[in-house]
Amino acid sequence: MYEITLILGDGIGPEISASAKACLEALNVKINWHEFEAGMTAYEQFGDPLPQEIIDSVRETKVALKAPITTPLGTGFRSANVKLRLELGLFACVRPFKTLSGIKKLYGDVDLVIVRENTEDLYCGIEYNLETIDSKHMIDFIETSCGCHPPHDSAFSIKSISRTASNKICKFAFEYARTHNRSMVTSVTKSNIMKYSDGLFKDCADKLSKEYPDIIYEHRLVDALAMHLVMNPSQFDILVLPNLYGDIMSDLCAGLTGGLGIAPGANIGEKYAVFESVHGSAPDIAGKGIANPTALLLSAAMMLEHIGEKKASEKLSKAVENVISEGENVTCDLNPTNFVSTKRMTEAIIEKLI
Ligand code: NAI
Repeated sequence: MYEITLILGDGIGPEISASAKACLEALNVKINWHEFEAGMTAYEQFGDPLPQEIIDSVRETKVALKAPITTPLGTGFRSANVKLRLELGLFACVRPFKTLSGIKKLYGDVDLVIVRENTEDLYCGIEYNLETIDSKHMIDFIETSCGCHPPHDSAFSIKSISRTASNKICKFAFEYARTHNRSMVTSVTKSNIMKYSDGLFKDCADKLSKEYPDIIYEHRLVDALAMHLVMNPSQFDILVLPNLYGDIMSDLCAGLTGGLGIAPGANIGEKYAVFESVHGSAPDIAGKGIANPTALLLSAAMMLEHIGEKKASEKLSKAVENVISEGENVTCDLNPTNFVSTKRMTEAIIEKLI
């Protein structure tokens, strides 16, 4: 019996979590779920979008399947997702993007993995709002230390990149390449402009690449990468990026392979792993029963592989792919003219599992 934490999330979270639970049950993998509300639902109930008991539970079970959590724009709570990743040391975000047959997509041969640094960069949470004492101190400091004069109504978000975290994520990417029979790692930065922060990340990747002569290595600037991904994505294999670029390029790659509804992911640390889709809580379609469960199901398949249930993992991925390629029982993001509900798509997948 596996002990696994299930974070229901908000928005479409509960709908797609129910789908994942039902599919894993049909697979007959014995799981004792430790189930928790999170996000807006938990905030309204407990005053905290990520109650401490969730973090404690993952510390105990070591593995979680997580549905998306809303981060309100501008005001409200800070991102519960960022907090979870920081508290649990989930330093590597792994997102495989592969074209599935049966999906209307731009390219037929994408098979790449984004390895995104998950704990620092502009997401580290050091921010100063405009017209506060802190931002005034920042302006004074910048004026005296480098002679620049930021406008006095500036707000600040600090981008911090460390050698330790950069080495850790780049090493993870090279090791991932070896263990997953992949041949090339591309590091991605904007080191021509951010010479110190991005320069440090690039320097770490450049140096580490020497220890992996069996893996082809190259560096790309993030703006050029965006163009090359759109023009010819099949030239890439593993992309290793700092946090923000990794986030943005993930959505771009999701667009190349058929949309956010089908893009899975994993947050991996030294002790814990949390599996979740790339997409967010999709408030525009929440409660309508039309969310595509694929991304969370493929994340669950990654989780099964992680806990050693490789056969069950392959079976689940295959069942999802088959239902999509048949095209009869898919949600409206995959076929706007002939679609079914989340529940029906889940049932069709379960029919392939039993
Ligand atoms: P989103 O990914 O939730 O939605 C973007 C678009 O994709 C929407 O039109 C949505 O309907 C569609 N979409 C997403 N998932 C889908 C699915 N499974 N099936 C069908 N259509 C799907 O991004 P958005 O709207 O920018 O963010 C909404 C909230 O989610 C925000 O508060 C954001 O901070 C949060 N978020 C949470 C994440 C997490 O928990 N890991 C990740 C990304 C965003």
